[in-house]
Amino acid sequence: MATARPRKTFAIISHPDAGKTTLTEKLLYFGGAIHTAGMVKSRKSKLQATSDWMEIEKQRGISVTSSVMQFSYNGYAVNILDTPGHQDFSEDTYRTLTAADSAVMLIDAAKGVEPQTIKLFEVCRMRKIPIFTFINKMDRESKDPLALLEELEEVLGIRSCPMNWPIGSGIDFKGVYDRERQQVELFKHGEKGRHIFPVFQEGKSNEKVKELLGEERYMKLKEDIELLDIAGDPFDREKIDNGLLTPVFFGSALTNFGVESFLEYFLRLAPGPAPRMSDKGLISPEHNKFSGFVFKIQANMNPAHRDRIAFLRIVSGKFIRGMTVQHVRTGKRIKLSQPQQFLAQERNIVEEAYPGDIIGLFDPGTFGIGDTLVEGNQTFSFADIPHFSPEIFAKVRAKDTMKYKQFHKGMQQLTEEGAVQYFTTAAPGAETLILGVVGQLQLEVFEYRMRNEYGVDVELQPLGFTLARWVKGNKKEHELNLIQYGGSLVVRDREGRLVVLLENEFAERWAKEKNPDVEFVSTSYE
Ligand code: G4P
Repeated sequence: MATARPRKTFAIISHPDAGKTTLTEKLLYFGGAIHTAGMVKSRKSKLQATSDWMEIEKQRGISVTSSVMQFSYNGYAVNILDTPGHQDFSEDTYRTLTAADSAVMLIDAAKGVEPQTIKLFEVCRMRKIPIFTFINKMDRESKDPLALLEELEEVLGIRSCPMNWPIGSGIDFKGVYDRERQQVELFKHGEKGRHIFPVFQEGKSNEKVKELLGEERYMKLKEDIELLDIAGDPFDREKIDNGLLTPVFFGSALTNFGVESFLEYFLRLAPGPAPRMSDKGLISPEHNKFSGFVFKIQANMNPAHRDRIAFLRIVSGKFIRGMTVQHVRTGKRIKLSQPQQFLAQERNIVEEAYPGDIIGLFDPGTFGIGDTLVEGNQTFSFADIPHFSPEIFAKVRAKDTMKYKQFHKGMQQLTEEGAVQYFTTAAPGAETLILGVVGQLQLEVFEYRMRNEYGVDVELQPLGFTLARWVKGNKKEHELNLIQYGGSLVVRDREGRLVVLLENEFAERWAKEKNPDVEFVSTSYE
């Protein structure tokens, strides 16, 4: 069996601007992976400063290093998976979550639960992974903390268990009360750090804390804590492990308040590498032979370096540089000689790696999303990575019909890479190809790559759909009862599964009501 330090592999899910970059940077800082605050930040600011996607792509050589960041803390090896937001939001963002064992949900205390968080949360829920909530920016005016917890329940349907409790917010933010340690951590405006004043014993008056907080705040805190103890959800490890209850932490990433104690709790409570389902049953991280799956492929847009990098999550065994593995889909044997690991700022050649780790493999076009690599003569394949509902759809065709072959080759490769999805209209003979992407940028990248890599100019005709729903049930397409006036369209995905494209949520509700005997699901999961 592989022996290694315990691993924690997680992703941060949030809406743009909630503070993901700031929090990541602080975590890396505590892990000693970066030494200057602002290193991760400066890269992102550059990306944000431009709306020109080619500029964004130029940065990819750098941004590939931020796809996975590894650091050590308290004897743990920690892997943070980056979930691109902003213009880079794409299906990759969802897929990355399939490689994480837990998620940190970062919420802006003034804004509450926002749309991108909801979408990413749904993927975590589908996988039943534990979710830890960090409510950020408490140094600014925030919503009422109880209202924020209610929002988690109402909008996301998850119960919560506050691990600490804020004392005021904005200019009146005084710190937090740590419920387990039963102590108050005081916040000092203008100081980047935390000051612990131990002992705030519930039920007893503590003169020092009272003096520091003032009588009124002290009494309010006491009442809040009593209310939480009586009426709040109790801490329940099993519910947390199954993603039914989220431990909640209040803090401020920018001022570094509450980040380190969050990290300590998180490392203690978050699960290690999970077993993964294959067609031959669950493969445990203790299984002694190496295995892993590809969850993301990143193409290099620089024409001088057409290589791609396939990101592989290790499920079992020990990876040793230079080992030969089997690519299960094709039966090919592949020597992994230049694998890379990502340490915040640099790419390094990795000599060995363990379950939970992510390695980057140079990919001359061999790998597809979901591919399994195994050591020796094992033959199992990990369960497919699902497709997620695109939000932007367009009819696509080659402008020059003579370029049919190149067009299909490009479509084939770009879909295998996971850059786009395509659907076909069900009408036999008169097939129309429909492209689906999660972010607008992907459409532009698709157009560019078809021209530059496959020599095909494509014509894209936008369609007014915003949702794809996979149809589960024993119905043929003509048996579905759908709005006829263009609010929906029945198509097939690349694997031939029945899918309905819908204009909006209203059309979806209508479809669900009129077709009670089928299920409409937002991913291609069975
Ligand atoms: P993102 O990656 O989730 O998009 O968010 P990012 O970390 O870039 O943070 C978005 C903005 O929120 C940044 O301000 C950042 O400084 C600020 N921020 C993050 N955490 C906190 C916090 O705990 N308290 C306060 N008050 N602000 C926070 P910006 O003005 O957009 O960028 P910058 O000028 O600071 O670089």
